[in-house]
Amino acid sequence: MKALTWAGAYDVRMETVPDPVLMAPTDIILRVTATAICGSDLHLYRGKVPGMKEGDILGHEFMGIVEDAGDAVTAVRRGDRVVVPFTISCGDCFFCGRGLYAACETTNPDRGAILNKKEVRSGAGMFGYTHLYGGYPGGQAEYVRVPQANVGPLRISDSALTDEQVLFLSDILPTGYQAVLNAAVGEGSSLAIFGAGPVGMMAAACARLLGVERIFMVDHHQYRLDFAREAYGAETINFDDVEDPAEHIIATTQNRGVDASIEAVGFEAKGSKLETLMTNLKLEGASGQALRQAIAATRRGGTVSVPGVYAGFIHAFLFGDAFDKGLSFRMGQTHVQQHMPALLEHIGRGDLHPEIIISHRLPLLEAARGYELFEEKLEECRKVVLTPH
Ligand SMILES: NC(=O)c1ccc[n+]([C@@H]2O[C@H](COP(=O)([O-])OP(=O)(O)OC[C@H]3O[C@@H](n4cnc5c(N)ncnc54)[C@H](O)[C@@H]3O)[C@@H](O)[C@H]2O)c1
Ligand SMILES: [Zn+2]
Ligand SMILES: [Zn+2]
Repeated sequence: MKALTWAGAYDVRMETVPDPVLMAPTDIILRVTATAICGSDLHLYRGKVPGMKEGDILGHEFMGIVEDAGDAVTAVRRGDRVVVPFTISCGDCFFCGRGLYAACETTNPDRGAILNKKEVRSGAGMFGYTHLYGGYPGGQAEYVRVPQANVGPLRISDSALTDEQVLFLSDILPTGYQAVLNAAVGEGSSLAIFGAGPVGMMAAACARLLGVERIFMVDHHQYRLDFAREAYGAETINFDDVEDPAEHIIATTQNRGVDASIEAVGFEAKGSKLETLMTNLKLEGASGQALRQAIAATRRGGTVSVPGVYAGFIHAFLFGDAFDKGLSFRMGQTHVQQHMPALLEHIGRGDLHPEIIISHRLPLLEAARGYELFEEKLEECRKVVLTPH
C-alpha cells in the first residue's frame, strides 16, 4: 500500500510499504477514506519531537471502512464506517475506567515524555506519534491497523453525514471541546484563545456552542484571524501589529482580563526570539511566550486551559503571577473517546460544522505537498484533508 513516511526534518515521503495485518484479536484493519494533517504532525515534521525513526508512517486523524476484524472485536464489524480517535486506550485500566483515555496505562510500552518520571507508567499510545508513544503506524495511508477496536472506533451509521463532517471527531474537535470544558466557561463568559489554527478554531466553535459571549483570538496570520472573525464572531488581535495582546485584552475588559484563556499554540510558540533560539539549542524545553500571554490575559480566579502540546521545562513560566492571581490550570492530551459520542450528536443536529475550516483537499499521494502548504501557511491554508481512494 501507499503511506506517508517520515524521512527526517522537513522530509516526508509517499512510499510503498507492506499492508498492515491483524496482530491481536482486538485489532481491526481499516481502509482509510479520509485523513487530515494536524498541528501536532507539524512538530514531528519540523523534527522537534524525539523518537521518530526513518520510515515511520505519520497520521493520527483518520476514518474509513472496517476491512477486517480480529476474533475478539465486538463493537464494530467488517464494512462499518468508523472514525478513529488518536488515543489508543484499553477501556479496562484505572484511567480508562475514569474516562481518562489519554492516560490509559496499558497501550504505550515506550517511556512517554515526562522528564522527572520515576516509576510512573506512560500515558496512552497514539497513532503515528513517535517511539515515545508506542510507535504505532499512522493513518496517512491507504490502510491502518487499529488496536483496541472495541474502545476506539466510533461507528457513523448516518450515511447523510459526509466524511468531512465527522473526520475531526478523531482529534481536533474533541480537543477544542475539552479545552473549553477545561476552561470552565459558559453562558456569558469571556475567553481568549491563543492560536487561530485548527485547534483554536474548534475551541471557538465549541465556546460558541456553550454560550460564551466574548471570544478574543490571537495569532499573526491575518487570514486565519479573518476566518475566526467571520465564522465565530471572534475579536481578533494580530501580534505582529499589537505587541502585547494581553495588555489589549485587559484594557477592553475593565482592567481585569478574561474569565479564561485557551493556549492552542504549544511549545513552538512564536514571539520571543531568545526562547526560540534557546529551544533550538536545547537549552530551553519550550517557548513560554503564548503561556505567559495566557496567564497575563486571564482575570484573578480564572482558568488557563492548555491543549497546545508542551514537553520539558520553561524557565520564564511566571508561576508567581499565576499564584498571585489565583489561577487554575487544566491541560493535557485529549480523552478523545470521552467526547466523541456527544459531539457526533451535535454534528448530526447541525449545531457544529467542523468541516468549514477545511481549506485544502488533496489525494493522499500529494500528502507531502499538503505538509508544505500547512507548514508554510501557503494559499491561506487552514486545514488539509487527504483522500486515499
Ligand atoms: N492536547 C491535544 O490532545 C492536542 C490535540 C491536537 C493538537 N494539539 C496541539 O495543539 C496545538 C495547535 O494545533 P493546530 O492544529 O491548531 O496547529 P497550527 O500550528 O496550525 O496552529 C497554531 C497557531 O498558533 C499560532 N501562533 C504561534 N505563536 C503564537 C503566539 N505566540 N500567540 C498566538 N498564536 C501563535 C500560529 O501562527 C498558528 O496559526 C499544537 O501544539 C498541537 O500539537 C494538541
Ligand atoms: Zn492531532
Ligand atoms: Zn486503559
